[in-house]
Amino acid sequence: MGLSMTDEGNTLPQHVAIIMDGNGRWAKAQGLSRVEGHRKGAGRVRDVVEWASDAGVKQVSLYAFSTENWKRPKSEVTALMTLMATLLPLEIKRMNERGARLLTLGDTSKLPWIARKALDKTCKATENNSNIDVILCLNYGGHQEILEGVKQFCASFHDDISKTEALKHLNEDMFRSLLGRDHILPVDLLIRTGGERRISNFHLWDAAYAELYFTDRLWPEYNKTDFHAALDDFASRERRFGRTSEQLKGEIEDE
Ligand code: FPP
Repeated sequence: MGLSMTDEGNTLPQHVAIIMDGNGRWAKAQGLSRVEGHRKGAGRVRDVVEWASDAGVKQVSLYAFSTENWKRPKSEVTALMTLMATLLPLEIKRMNERGARLLTLGDTSKLPWIARKALDKTCKATENNSNIDVILCLNYGGHQEILEGVKQFCASFHDDISKTEALKHLNEDMFRSLLGRDHILPVDLLIRTGGERRISNFHLWDAAYAELYFTDRLWPEYNKTDFHAALDDFASRERRFGRTSEQLKGEIEDE
């Protein structure tokens, strides 16, 4: 279920989701501005795509801007958007060489025009790549995503009969479609850097069975060894999806 095997025979997550936390604290410790922390963090985004694609991971999603991040100082929001607008198109060549396709999750229509333009350009230029998907989550919130799915569902009713029919057919697969997540794999491994232990409204629907991995490392200092430690930890977990350990080991037959 959502797993493939590495060369060593370990289980490898297909979709790794990352909450990149700690840019501000890292910057403060260096006597730099928060924006410099985000700039340094953007470099780690490039690295993690490389490490993940080398490892054989199929999708990496990155929590780059949440629906709550609008509450940050206006200057920081503007700087983050400008950073993305500037850096993304510069990555196109490297992404194409790697076979990386850029996708987004979240309501990008509310982002400033310069960020939308850079995203559109980079998504379009990488749309035929198939080694790894880099999913930037922007103006993304798990609650908002689920509410949007409910709104889509309700919008499909025309009368009481269609409502009754729709309710009869509503299931988890259909709801994932309504969330617009058909092309996104369920999250296998969710990593959060920066020492906090919460998921902060990230991937609420599709992280239902994700393995959670927390590290104190601040995102600008996240390195390849850290990433592989998370993959190794994932490989050591027993993912039961509601079954018993004995069932998984084939010690008892499924009835
Ligand atoms: C959380 O750290 C980080 C963010 C809200 C922004 C993450 C954005 C990037 C890494 C840049 C992405 C750029 C591209 C080109 C994709 P924080 O600021 O909350 O850190 P703190 O908890 O230490 O204050």
